[in-house]
Order: sequence, then C-alpha cells, then structure tokens
Amino acid sequence: MARVDLIRVVGGARLAGEVVVGGAKNSALKLMAAALLAPGESMIANVPRITDILIMSEVLRRLGCQVSFADGTVRVDTPDKPGTEADYDLVRRLRASICVLGPLLARCGYVRVAHPGGDAIGSRGLDMHVAGLARMGAQIAGEHGYVIASAPHGLHGATIWLDFPSVGATENLLMAAVLADGVTELDNVAREPEIIDLCDMLIAMGARISGAGTSRLLVEGVGELRPVQHRTVGDRIVGGTWAYAAAMTRGQVTVRGVEPGHLEIALDKLVSAGAEVMTEPGAFRVTMDGRPAAVDVSTLPYPGFATDLLPMAVGLAAVSEGTSFITENIFDGRFMFINEMSRLGADIRIDGHHAAVRGRDRLSGAPVRATDIRAGAGLVIAGLCADGVTEVAAVHHIDRGYPDFVADLRRLGVTVERGVAPEEPAFAF
Ligand code: EPU
Repeated sequence: MARVDLIRVVGGARLAGEVVVGGAKNSALKLMAAALLAPGESMIANVPRITDILIMSEVLRRLGCQVSFADGTVRVDTPDKPGTEADYDLVRRLRASICVLGPLLARCGYVRVAHPGGDAIGSRGLDMHVAGLARMGAQIAGEHGYVIASAPHGLHGATIWLDFPSVGATENLLMAAVLADGVTELDNVAREPEIIDLCDMLIAMGARISGAGTSRLLVEGVGELRPVQHRTVGDRIVGGTWAYAAAMTRGQVTVRGVEPGHLEIALDKLVSAGAEVMTEPGAFRVTMDGRPAAVDVSTLPYPGFATDLLPMAVGLAAVSEGTSFITENIFDGRFMFINEMSRLGADIRIDGHHAAVRGRDRLSGAPVRATDIRAGAGLVIAGLCADGVTEVAAVHHIDRGYPDFVADLRRLGVTVERGVAPEEPAFAF
C-alpha cells in the first residue's frame, strides 16, 4: 500500500507579503546536461532544490560525472569519456533526461537513451529531435524502447527547420550543433528565456552562437568547449504561479527573482482582470482588490501565454466575474486536471482544446488529486478560494517543480500543512 503525501489548506486566505523565487527548473536541467559538453568541473548557481534536479544529478552520475549540490549550486565534474546510456528507470521519472541526447552524441559519437513516452499532460513526441540530428549526419534507430543514435565520424552542420518551436528539440539540436563540424542554421526555434540562458552558458563555454532569443539560431561548431560557472535565470513559471495566486485570493504579493518581462502576457492578463501590477528589474508586485473580471487566455510558445500557467489561468477564471474562454495549444492532455478542479465546484465545460469557465464567487473545499506539477500547484491555490478545507493528494508532483511551496504559502499568510493520507485498504480476492 503506497502512502500518499498531501497538502491541506484552509480556504479564505488573502495572500499578502513577499516571495523570493529561485532559478528555473526548466533551465537548470538543461544547463546540467550542457556540462556534459566539456570535460572538467562546471558550476551552476541558483539551482532550485527540487526532485527533478536530484534525478538529473543521478542521470549525470550514471554517465560518469561527479555531481554535488550545496547552497543552491550544482557542481558537475565531467570525465574525458562520459558514458553513453540513460536508462528507462530514470528517464521515465524525468523526461527532461532526453536532453542528454544531443550533447552525448556530439561528444561521444554514440548515445542510447530511453524513450520517455507520453505523460499526464500529453503524448510528447521526439520526432523533431530525431529528424534534426539525422540532418546533422546521425544514424538513428528506435529499439526496445530506446533511441539509439550514432555518428562515428562526427556530426556536421545543416539547415534545420522545426515544424513547431519545440523547447526540447531546440535545446538538443543546439547542444549537438555547438560541437558539429561547420555551420548549423536552426529555424523556427523556441525563444523561451530558458533557451537564451542555455545559449549564454554555451557561449561562455566557448560556443559560437548568434540569434539567441530569436526564432533563428546560427551555430558555428567548435572543436572543444571548456567548463564554466553560470547562474540560472529566475523561474518565470513559479513567479507566475504566485502572481495568479495573489489575484485569485484578492491579495497583494511581491515576487523577487524573476524578470517581469519574462511574464509579459501573463501579467497583462491580470491587469485586464482588474489587478494592479507594478514592475521593476527582477521583481514585480500584484495587487487585486475585489473580484477579478473574466479574461480569455490562449497558450502559445514564448512569448505567448505559457502552457505551464494554464492551471492558474483556469483557477483565476473559476472565481472571476463572467465567463472565460481558455484555449490550450501546446499539449493534448493539459486539461487532465479539470475533473479535479470541478470537484472544487469550478464550472468548466471542455470542447477539444477549449474550456469555457463560468466564474463563481467561491469554490468549495474537497479532497482532490494532483495530476502533474502545475496542476498540483493550481489545485492548492484554487483551494485557497474555497470554503473550508481542501486536501490535494499526490503532491510529490509539486515537489518536482516548486521548492519550499508550503513554506512560501505560510509566509504569505495561508493556514497550510503537509501530511500523509491514511493508507487505503487493499482489496483482494
Ligand atoms: N513535440 C513533438 N515532437 C517533438 C517535440 C515536441 O510533437 O519532437 C510536441 C510535444 O508533444 C508538445 C509540443 O510539441 O505537444 C511542445 O513540446 P516542447 O518540446 O516545446 O516541450 P518540452 O521541451 O517537452 C518544455 C518544458 C515543459 C513546458 C514546455 C512548453 C522542460 C523540462 N519542460 O517541455 O515544462 O510545458 O517546454 O513550454 O523544459 C513543466 O515544467 O511542468 C513542463 C511540463
């Protein structure tokens, strides 16, 4: 019988105070993979203390790296000849492990990485990663649940158009191209701040890259890279989560450690909903007096509205005055958590990748279950707008992306505790 960790919140809190947000999970994981590109010790600062970072550390250790984590800094000491295998037992727990594919292929000429499969937010293909590496001269096969890529004579520059600005494909191809022979042009790439962060680290390692932050990256391959010290960009999704929590609870929260420019549309939606948003470099403050007004949201690749903030947008809509139309354009399973939101009394109709949300003045506390990282955080915050107590189970999902989630809630005035669900009886014939 598995024990289930849960978070219990008492609704009715008005969030007030300040939170300091650390480095972005979705950057730090890729920066750790980038350390594979150079022998020696790279140091990555401002890394969040979350489960996903622990799993990535283990992926790198099994590749022969020495990895340590202290005071928010990860040190990765990469051997001259790293290993070339990432096993399913880790990759299934952290699909971002797939981002070792590009750097290992570029450095070792061979790699065997488990195919992560889909997950709770969608099917999550790898076709663009594979097609791009093939363009650069790799031979790729899928066997027994593994992606096996080889380039015994090295990778070469190529012109690659992505069908869609995939974050992961952009990162894998970029990390392969920096050591490829010749020039690689990557077009229709992702423009997320985490991609710029990766480019900054690679450039400091000696890579030649231009166009970071645009949809066209030009990479001139070099013979070798050197280890570096780098500081991770602030986590805009964690920052955005607190921004929406402030608006939903009609509170006032100052968020430090995140560039407000990385959340432009998300903060602008809050202004449309009636919030006051004050910004300064590296910080912002959200104040909401009164009930939010309904706003429509449509997720898109950066700089569009982030899909990772969709549960917060749905939560806001659930307590707003009027009807909001929310459209998800990135993941085919992102609405999985809607049934749990409905258990809290949210009035939501789904039609394909659209949701119509009729706002209610108050939700109603209930036991619910987190289905993924962002849905988990969204359900806890929705619980703050509910009458009575809300218990969110399976909060190990939240631990994958939010360091100090409960401590931050407490700091903002919420009555919250973490506990273990009573064991469920096992039934047997
Ligand atoms: N896709 C394909 N083929 C590919 C690559 C992607 O069809 O070869 C599809 C995916 O199935 C998906 C869409 O393209 O429908 C976007 O996928 P993308 O590759 O951009 O996402 P990702 O790299 O797998 C990262 C973040 C996600 C975040 C998305 C979008 C990491 C570790 N994960 O995923 O973060 O939602 O970009 O911004 O960086 C999270 O942190 O909770 C999270 C899910």
